Amino acid sequence: MEKKRVVSGMRPSGRLHLGHLVGALDNWKKLQEIHRCYFFVADWHALTSEYADTSQIKEYIREIAIDWLGAGIDPERATLFIQSRIPEHAELHLLLSMITPLPWLERNPTYKEQLQEVTTRDLSTYGFLGYPVLQAADILIYKANFVPVGVDQMPHIELTREIARRFNSLYGEILMVPEGMLTQFPKVPGLDGRKMSKSYQNVILLSDSAGEIRAKVRPMVTDPARARRTDAGNPEVCPVFDLHKIYTPSALHAGLIEGCKTASIGCLDCKEVLLGHLLGAMEEIHAKRQELATKPEKIDEILEEGSLKARHEAVLTLSQIKEAVGI
Ligand code: TRP
Ligand code: SF4
Repeated sequence: MEKKRVVSGMRPSGRLHLGHLVGALDNWKKLQEIHRCYFFVADWHALTSEYADTSQIKEYIREIAIDWLGAGIDPERATLFIQSRIPEHAELHLLLSMITPLPWLERNPTYKEQLQEVTTRDLSTYGFLGYPVLQAADILIYKANFVPVGVDQMPHIELTREIARRFNSLYGEILMVPEGMLTQFPKVPGLDGRKMSKSYQNVILLSDSAGEIRAKVRPMVTDPARARRTDAGNPEVCPVFDLHKIYTPSALHAGLIEGCKTASIGCLDCKEVLLGHLLGAMEEIHAKRQELATKPEKIDEILEEGSLKARHEAVLTLSQIKEAVGI
């Protein structure tokens, strides 16, 4: 049986953290065992908002690739590449832009929200409005069956499906209508108890050393009602406990809950238990990252090879598409 195809991408906008690991990479790692996977760094998508300062994009591309490989994404199984190495994405983006009704883009919730919220950059550009059309091209050019993304990206997948259907109804059934794949993952709180996010500066990075992780977790926010060591706490409102749920074996949870509620353990004791398991889980990532850090040329080689492989596929689909369009 033909393998199903999976496509997903990440913008190079900084180093990856535990939120990316739990929310995306652990899932990618499983998917690469089952399906034909295409994972890429969406550098053109980064440009849609960061066009005025591109100084860090190249560095971030390499960092993200190191994070992927560290997290166990395997270039022997998945095709890893850089979006801008495949000019066919851009050509398909152009063709799709001809058939995408403007109102579909103007009513895109992500677009409206970002226009409102982002004040440090001018996003009233043609490229930014067309962000989901480029994303549709990324997906459709590999005839993806599944697109694993977070819930915030679902409107873009819905648009991709609509664009694919419109193309097929105009030019014949060429494009696969993909499905978004929403994976359930546990809540990953940041150090301050809010969602872990770069913009809150509350993250544990995949590139943080064991010492850095310790220094971040020790002062981490806990149940605010537990101000003193003798106060009882409630794990259900404690972000440290959310991390226990991810990293500490469940057989140990009851003991921690009991210790917290009776104040027989302190928050620092509780965090030490967490650190033991969290650092254990990060060990393999740290070892792989360290090995890769000494061979930057290896990273470039992996991305170069992946880009060649991806391009081969993209060229094939694009030639079918151009024939169908009649150009
Ligand atoms: N827009 C996605 C994000 O910000 C990144 C992305 C670009 C993507 N192209 C894609 C994701 C294609 C899935 C498929 O997370
Ligand atoms: Fe949170 Fe643990 Fe402190 Fe309870 S003991 S408040 S679960 S850190």
